[in-house]
Amino acid sequence: MCGIVAYVGGAAAAPVLVEGLRRLEYRGYDSAGIATLTGRTLNIRKTIGYISSLQSLLVQHPIAGTIGISHTRWATHGAVTIQNAHPHSDHSGRLALVHNGVIENYHELRGDLIEKGETFYSSTDTEVMAHLIGYFFGKNGKQGKIGLMEAIRQALGQVVGTYGIAVIHADVPGVLMGARHGSSLVLGVGNGEYLLASDTSAIVPYTHEAIYLNDRDIVCLGEGGFEVNTLTGLGSDYRITKIDFTIEDISKAEYPHYMLKEIFEQPASVSNAIRGRLSLEEATAKLGGLEASNIELRAVEHLILSGCGTAFHAGLVGKYLIESLAHIPAECEFASELRYRSLLATPSTTFVFVISQSGETADTLAALRESRRKGYRTLGICNYVASTVARESDGGVYMHAGVEIGVAATKSFTSQLTILTLISLLFGRIRRLSHTDGLRIIAELEKLPEKISQTLELHEQVRRIACKYAHAKSFLFLGRQFNYPIALEGALKLTETSYIAASGHPSAELKHGIIALVAPEIPSVFIAPEDSVLEKNLNNIQEVKARNGPVIAIGTEGNKSLARIADDVLFIPEAPEYISPILAVIPLQLLAYYIAVELGHDVDKPRNLAKSVTVE
Ligand code: G6P
Repeated sequence: MCGIVAYVGGAAAAPVLVEGLRRLEYRGYDSAGIATLTGRTLNIRKTIGYISSLQSLLVQHPIAGTIGISHTRWATHGAVTIQNAHPHSDHSGRLALVHNGVIENYHELRGDLIEKGETFYSSTDTEVMAHLIGYFFGKNGKQGKIGLMEAIRQALGQVVGTYGIAVIHADVPGVLMGARHGSSLVLGVGNGEYLLASDTSAIVPYTHEAIYLNDRDIVCLGEGGFEVNTLTGLGSDYRITKIDFTIEDISKAEYPHYMLKEIFEQPASVSNAIRGRLSLEEATAKLGGLEASNIELRAVEHLILSGCGTAFHAGLVGKYLIESLAHIPAECEFASELRYRSLLATPSTTFVFVISQSGETADTLAALRESRRKGYRTLGICNYVASTVARESDGGVYMHAGVEIGVAATKSFTSQLTILTLISLLFGRIRRLSHTDGLRIIAELEKLPEKISQTLELHEQVRRIACKYAHAKSFLFLGRQFNYPIALEGALKLTETSYIAASGHPSAELKHGIIALVAPEIPSVFIAPEDSVLEKNLNNIQEVKARNGPVIAIGTEGNKSLARIADDVLFIPEAPEYISPILAVIPLQLLAYYIAVELGHDVDKPRNLAKSVTVE
């Protein structure tokens, strides 16, 4: 949530910062701002709206300087106004600070500072930190780098909450400082230049050497190089990591939107999730990252899956996968609920899997930490290497899906499902699943990228259906068993990109209330591939048709009954029930995409959303 980019080096800072913000715009795009130092002068420019507005402002009112900080905002405290946009300053007007996170005791701190004579200009929690650092800097009377670092330490010592910050001060020219606690901050180490950013996409055009800062690290950058310490004054345990993607990986290439590009990347991203992880000889999956022996895996009697948004939907499919392939009782819970639940499962025989594309979602992290506190073995399924989930869990499986920039998650979802299938295969093979069944599952996984490519060929047909229904008042998404979570995911994709009210339900629940909504202006999307519940789904479709509700159906190639009763049918390739969710979700992703485009919405930057929600 919110994006930070900061720079110090030999180049003009403003273009580097604006370019970095553009790459982080998916983290928030309510307002943006930039501050640079030219000698001992602080320059600040802020706007509301997209980074393009900030770019235009900088054309009219350029700022120089080779050191600066910048921010793109997703509002938490305070409305979307120029006053609330970052950077914020202190009473001296010589300090500038950008912040990602939430300061929980900001009311209290603000009250104390007002009593001390400080004046506030915004309603943000961030401004409190700027004033607090400025207050200590003035009070201590110490100058220079040491003085500023000490002031930051003292101020952060009083702060309760989460932060990733970058700070510059006109009295300490040439020095850039940052600190983190609970909000990601990455240091890019370039050749005579340094960048600080909330994620690596802003750094990659300049350097592939990164240091993922730990919680409670403070970093000081400038001509003398870089120093990473802990807020308590000790040297930090950091290491330089190679960023494993290139600038081409994070461009839109020939696609009009990231979302469409990422939908079309799914044959490759699913291949990457499988690559090197199948053993034909043992008819199982090899997932060394779980850091668990077969003896430990065999002792597991219960699995808990957790995540937020799309990752939660993947976990729900995972529950069906684990129960049917691995024969282990499994449950899936929203991370925001799990973190406050009294977990009763036995820690010694229960594994908790947290699923998160970014590995930084606040609720997911809290669920992970709560599970660890209670003694559960916690494992992460995430995409970002070295993300907080990856670092704090006992092991896990990386998605290797490549950078996902579209705010609406697409390729990460199918990668999560693929990995959950691998996990189910692994757990199944050390229990009841035979060698032959293991080989059958492997063969299906190997065919998957090709089947995804075939499914993507539906895009033109989906586009036509999208145009036909784009102005519908609302949508219902219905499915059963493995495809019930796909109904939820289809509804979420449409709602977030098109702002059309859509809800997902188990098909059989229709008659318990939802059927009251069925009407000619409300289409129902049925996910009804050939599986154990197809006949039941067909009955539910008849119930909708009998009430004049239009039906769009996702079915298995060649299914004639579906073609007869539904108004529009999208056929996906034949596949076993446990694979079908991966294929069935693709036309729903395309449907959400094309409806949003037809309605003229900004698909990659949906209203009010952000890619990675690092606040509770
Ligand atoms: C946000 C995004 C969703 C995403 C969810 C979980 O709400 O808008 O697209 O599914 O966070 O994100 P994660 O990075 O934990 O998978």
